[in-house]
Amino acid sequence: MKNILTTKQFTKEEIEKILSRALLMESDLKEGRVEKLLSDKVIACIFFEPSTRTRLSFETAAIRLGANIISVENAEVSSSSFKGETIEDTARILSCYADAIVMRHNKPGAVEIAAGVSTKPIINAGDGANQHPSQALLDVYTIKKEHGRLDNLSVAFAGDLKNSRPLHSLIPILLFYPNNTFYFISPRELAIPEDLRKELKDKKIKFIETQNLEETLPKVNVLYMTRVQKERFKNIEDYEKVKDLYLLKKVHLELLKKEAIIMHALPRVNEIDHAIDNDKRACYFRQAENGLYVRMALLLYIFGL
Ligand code: CP
Repeated sequence: MKNILTTKQFTKEEIEKILSRALLMESDLKEGRVEKLLSDKVIACIFFEPSTRTRLSFETAAIRLGANIISVENAEVSSSSFKGETIEDTARILSCYADAIVMRHNKPGAVEIAAGVSTKPIINAGDGANQHPSQALLDVYTIKKEHGRLDNLSVAFAGDLKNSRPLHSLIPILLFYPNNTFYFISPRELAIPEDLRKELKDKKIKFIETQNLEETLPKVNVLYMTRVQKERFKNIEDYEKVKDLYLLKKVHLELLKKEAIIMHALPRVNEIDHAIDNDKRACYFRQAENGLYVRMALLLYIFGL
């Protein structure tokens, strides 16, 4: 049984197989010839945190592949979790009804606990600030599509690097590829976690931590803006201090290389001015679309298809 809990579980070969499958899904879907390989399956989507892209693209992916969906949004209040049911019992019950479970939870490690008791495969759709593996896979799919490679890149992440599960999930994949340099742009309070810093040092990966967005822009091929995650702050004053530090505006585009791409997992709040949406380097809507193809590939992957 294949769960998808973290990007650290994958080999480079597995990632490349998933990316190739996603490319096939994209062309099949665009040409209207997707095989209904999951027509005998029921997929349960249970989200204890809000979502637009992840839940709806997983559900669309399942429907495109012929599966049926049972879905719970706002599960923290609309499922029996509200009455005190444990995550283990919830997972046990869902695995009696569905053939696979897609779960988002606010607590790091909660989806792994669910997977420990589930008799059906589970996909982690984001667990707190920890991991969001399907996001990272659609991110590398996007980088590969836009740049044609996953090596020899200068990749900058800006914003809330402490709480960004896309960043925490994407770095382990990019470490499979040689000569990538990372720039981490954040205030000290939102810097990358110490375990990631140590891992990069131990592996002798080139990385630069800075607070200066403008100075970094001319150096990168990939600029990944991240939302300051209000929901992870213990008090609102700390959030207010850092929430608007990095806003990418039209004036910044002159500093970026012609071939650079601007990414964002979305939703954005105040990280990217809407005035730059039509710049060809702004690829966050293409990135979100790619989520559908990658999630189709992931649903096939967990069923060994
Ligand atoms: N990127 C992402 O996870 O978006 P949602 O929170 O809308 O699912």
